[in-house]
Amino acid sequence: MNISIVGTGYVGLVTGVGLAEIGHHVTCIDINEEKIRKLKKGISPIYEPGIESLILKNISKERLDFTTSFDEGIRFADTIYLAVGTPTGIDGEIDMTSFDKASNEIVDSINGPTIIVIKSTVPVGTNNSLQKMMNERAQHKVTVVSNPEFLREGRALSDLFEGDRIIIGSEDKEAIKTMERINTPFDIPMVITSPKSAELIKYASNAFLATKISFINEIANLCDLVGADIQEVSFGMGLDKRIGSQFLQAGTGYGGSCFPKDTLGLLQIAKESGMKFQLLQEVIKTNSKQQKILVKKLLTKMDTINGKKIAILGVAFKPNTDDIREAPALRIIEELSNQGALVYAYDPIVEKSNKALPQNIRMVDMIEEALNQADAALIVTEWEEIKKLKAEDFKKWMKCPIIVDGRNCFDPNEMVQLGIYYQSIGRGGEKKSLVLK
Ligand code: UDX
Repeated sequence: MNISIVGTGYVGLVTGVGLAEIGHHVTCIDINEEKIRKLKKGISPIYEPGIESLILKNISKERLDFTTSFDEGIRFADTIYLAVGTPTGIDGEIDMTSFDKASNEIVDSINGPTIIVIKSTVPVGTNNSLQKMMNERAQHKVTVVSNPEFLREGRALSDLFEGDRIIIGSEDKEAIKTMERINTPFDIPMVITSPKSAELIKYASNAFLATKISFINEIANLCDLVGADIQEVSFGMGLDKRIGSQFLQAGTGYGGSCFPKDTLGLLQIAKESGMKFQLLQEVIKTNSKQQKILVKKLLTKMDTINGKKIAILGVAFKPNTDDIREAPALRIIEELSNQGALVYAYDPIVEKSNKALPQNIRMVDMIEEALNQADAALIVTEWEEIKKLKAEDFKKWMKCPIIVDGRNCFDPNEMVQLGIYYQSIGRGGEKKSLVLK
């Protein structure tokens, strides 16, 4: 099939490369010239393990190309995927600006019967509205299908090729047949449903995963009060197949470009439908509280952090990505800086030049630079490189080994034996020990 993908972000690029890999001819369109120039050379604008080799492979097989021109990009397409961002707007609503702009760009370039696939995460009812617009303005028959993505950053290719299900939202038999033909080579179960159900499956799935995380974080906070161990509690819970062990790791709260956006988005969808989604409001509030917990724990040990050197290990919202959108580290760094701390942050791949980084921190190239003579260290992202550190390293490098571990990377007993003040999430509260210096 000839497929065009509008938008080459985390979703559009991975989807385009994946569709080319299973044999389709794919043209990816983006308005960003620099991004397209690099993609033509096989350079990915996003950090996604394995993506660049697949880009180069499919370019060489002439199944994948890139352009900034909508006309050129969709001229030969019989299926156009809309994969543009639908971020959170200024007051929490779903910002459809890019989506609407892209829809208007393509409607005038459609030159034959076309299927438009909504890959972006969009409010319930968007498929129907776009179908109506296309019926009114397109010169040829256009059928709009919903096909939400479930890709996790850092493992998007495995989620694409080994996903649990492909959701297809349409009532048009021909369009359903085409989507089945496009997706059959993935060999993943396909669920055919209504457009509205497909749109809601996406939001509900992300909101449920966020709910699991906020729930286990609250259980972790209870563990600290009662002296239980969250890793043992989570393990015991997760063996129940009805609960499942995934997304049951307590930490410093969820971040990223999706959970925060999609939980707020679902809240808006409910509100506009006249429903107060109380549970989801609490999930969001709990997460916001959890993102502050590391600083709270730190301040139970240090009377003041004004003028103190604080090391932040990990800035990306999770390992194996360079994405810092809504990363807990950003809120933590802001809080520390507001209280006068000197923040030295380390992350294996987040670029120092990332404009979303706060100005008043020092991004260092090596973990030792962050820890050297630090008064305290906060573990925020569980990168392998950080998890490999030994308790002795902290003792050797830090002025005063106070550690607050937001991702439970280390063994509390090892830390206590070395006289390190160590706090983590949900592991029986403060490990009391004298800081031997
Ligand atoms: C998520 C969904 O998983 C994916 O299906 C959807 O398409 C996009 O949003 P992503 O945001 O890339 O993917 O990251 P994910 O791996 O889901 O983690 C989200 C956040 O939850 C991260 O901040 C992570 O640290 C946190 N998390 C995850 C936990 O705190 N505990 C867990 O057990 C799992």
